[in-house]
Amino acid sequence: MKIKSHLLGLLTLAAVAACNPAAKEGKQISQLTDSITVHLRPQFHFTPRKFWTNDPNGLLYHDGEFHLFFQHNPFDKVWGHMHWGHAVSRDLLHWEELPIAIAEDTAMIFSGSAVVDKNNTAGFGENAFVAFYTAHRILDPKNPDVYLQTQHMAYSTDKGRTWTKYDKNPVIDLGKKDFRDPKVFWHEESKKWIMAVNLPNEHKTQFYGSANLKNWELLSEFGPEGNVAIPWECPDLFSLPVENEPGKQKWVLLISAEGPYPGFQGMQYFIGEFDGKRFKNDNPANKPLYLDYGRDYFAAVTFNHIPNDRRVLLGWISNWAYANQVPTHPWRNGMAIPRMLYLRKEPEGYRLLQQPVEMVNDMAKSSTRHLNIELQRAGELVVGNQDKGGDLYDIEGTFEFANDAVFGFKIFKSDTEETVIRYDAARRMLYLDRSKSGDVSFSPKFTVLDSVAIDTNGENLKLRVLFDRNTVEVFAQDGRYTISNVVFPSEKSRGVVAFGEKGKGLAKLVTSSFRDLKPEIKK
Ligand code: FRU
Repeated sequence: MKIKSHLLGLLTLAAVAACNPAAKEGKQISQLTDSITVHLRPQFHFTPRKFWTNDPNGLLYHDGEFHLFFQHNPFDKVWGHMHWGHAVSRDLLHWEELPIAIAEDTAMIFSGSAVVDKNNTAGFGENAFVAFYTAHRILDPKNPDVYLQTQHMAYSTDKGRTWTKYDKNPVIDLGKKDFRDPKVFWHEESKKWIMAVNLPNEHKTQFYGSANLKNWELLSEFGPEGNVAIPWECPDLFSLPVENEPGKQKWVLLISAEGPYPGFQGMQYFIGEFDGKRFKNDNPANKPLYLDYGRDYFAAVTFNHIPNDRRVLLGWISNWAYANQVPTHPWRNGMAIPRMLYLRKEPEGYRLLQQPVEMVNDMAKSSTRHLNIELQRAGELVVGNQDKGGDLYDIEGTFEFANDAVFGFKIFKSDTEETVIRYDAARRMLYLDRSKSGDVSFSPKFTVLDSVAIDTNGENLKLRVLFDRNTVEVFAQDGRYTISNVVFPSEKSRGVVAFGEKGKGLAKLVTSSFRDLKPEIKK
C-alpha cells in the first residue's frame, strides 16, 4: 500500500456517498441488512453507539470529566462527512456519548485538539474550551482531490456541550492542500500556547506560538526524520519525567505515519529537547522508534490538563488498510485502552513505556492466580472457558523459560478459532497471531502475524494481555513493548488458556493473575 495518502481513496468513497440521496437525508446507506454484532462490542473501550469513527480528537480533562471528541461520520459506517463526535467519562473506561460537538459545514471537520483557556487568553471566557481542527474543504465538487486544508478554531463555554465556530476562521491558512491535525498545548516555560501541526507530504511538523490562541507565529519546523515512507499525520508534543533519572525531563514527539510494518500505518516517536521554539531529536535522523508493534494502533495523542504530570495516551484501534471493511454493526472502529506513558533511560537511549490506566484494576469481577505451573506438564492451563464467558479479561503472567521454549496465551479459543500470543525463546520474538482468530475474510491485509523482538537478557518474560471482545492489547516487560490488534471471533470462541508447546523447552508460569472483567452491558 504505497499510498500518497489514504485520504484520496477515502475522498473518492465520500464523493460517491455524498451523491446518494439517502446520505443527504442523513440516513445510513451501507450495510442496511447487517445484523447487530453484540458479541464483538467492546465493553470498556470507547466505540460510538453507531456508525463510523477514526481518530480521537480534542482530548482533555476538566472538572472531573475526561472529554473524548472523535472523528465521526454520523450518517454511515464508512469514512466521510467528518464531524467531531463527543463522549465524556469519569474513569476513562465508561463513556457517555453526547450529541455531535462540531458539525461539518462547507468543510469537513478533521482531526485536532482542545485546551481549557483558564486565564481567558482568547477572550471567550474564563475556562472556555477552545478546539483546533483542520477544515478540509473540497474546492472542485467534481474532483474530491482538489481541496484545501486550513486550521480553524471553535469554542465552548458550557464544558464542551455546545460549540461556536470562531467567526474569523481560519486561524492559519498556508494555501496548502495538505496541512493538518493541530495539537495545541500550554508551554509553561515560555508562557505561551504552542501548536504542533503537520505538513504530511513533506514529512514535517511545524511549531507555532501564540499568546491569545488566535494569532499564530511560525516558530520552527521539524523533519523529515525517522520513517518518511508515507504521510505524517496527528503530531503530539509533550514532556515527561524520566523514571530512572530523578529530576530529568525529556520531550516526546509522536507522529502517526508508517509503523513497523512496511506499507501499513502505525506510530513512531522521537525523543529530544524542546526549548519553546524548536524540537531537536536526540537520535540519528534515520533511526525511527516505533510506539506499538500491532497493526491496529494509530492517531494516538495525549490528554491536555491531566494534573500531576500524568500523560494519558489514547489511540484508534484499527488500520486504514481495512478500517472501512471490519465486520461490526451498527458501529465501526473504536479506541484502544487509555494508557499511562512513562519514559525510561536504557543503554540505547530513552524509551517509552505504556501501561493501561490504573482504573482498569478496579474492573475485576473475579480473579484467579496460579503459581509455579510447568506448562508442558499441565498441557494447557485452562483459565476461562465458554461457560465462564472469557471475552473480557486482564491477564498477567511471569514466565521462566528454557532457551528453546515456546509458550504464551491463547484467547478467544474454540475448536476452530484462537488468537495466540506466543513467545519463541530461541528466536527471542513475541508474536500475536490472528490468522485463526475468527472472521478474517473481509480483507486480504488482515491475516497477518505481528511480532516484536524481545531479548529478556536472562530475565523472566512478563506479559499482560487485556482483551475486550474484539480488542487485544499486549503489554510485555512492563509495557516496554506493546502489540495492539482487533479480532473478530465468533460468539462461541471464548476459551482462555496458558500454554507451553510440547516437545520444546520448559516454560514455567511463575506467577499469574487472570482477572475476569465486569461487562458494562453495552449493546
Ligand atoms: C488520520 C487522518 C487525519 C485527518 C483525519 C480525517 O487518520 O487522516 O490526518 O485529519 O484522519 O478523518
